[in-house]
Amino acid sequence: MSNRTFTMVKPDATAKGHTGAIINDIIAGGFAIKAMKWIKLTKEQAGEFYAVHSERPFYGELVDFMSSGPIVAAILEKENAVADFRTLIGATNPAQAADGTIRKKYAASIGENAVHGSDSDENAAIEGDFFFSKLERF
Ligand code: RTP
Ligand code: MG
Repeated sequence: MSNRTFTMVKPDATAKGHTGAIINDIIAGGFAIKAMKWIKLTKEQAGEFYAVHSERPFYGELVDFMSSGPIVAAILEKENAVADFRTLIGATNPAQAADGTIRKKYAASIGENAVHGSDSDENAAIEGDFFFSKLERF
């Protein structure tokens, strides 16, 4: 079991001024920040990041949304990081997310849902490598 996961504060949340509160919730949830950057993806970069979803009906919308404004990308560390982080953020659709979760508190819709969390140890490593060089992590 890996102790790292990867997250993004998505463009809806950065635009609404929720970045600080979300990072605060992440730290309060017991996660240590091992790398972090404020960055804006091009459409091409967002498409590459979400290539795994390229056959899904929402892919075009997702790529447009994820390249529509700045995001905060980060590598996080905690025991059981992937599963615990998905518990902290809540269900993909904020309407179904548990009370107190980040998506329940800050997300408006299934498409614009405030944060990303890796779904496996393998993808956490791939996604972290997409954003961060060796120099940018410790
Ligand atoms: P994420 O990867 O962002 O942490 O979200 P997730 O695992 O909870 O959900 P996933 O199935 O991986 O979907 C990735 C992102 O695509 C957007 N989405 N839109 N309109 C829709 O029905 C729909 N379904 C998914 C969301 O932004 C979701 O987080
Ligand atoms: Mg996912």
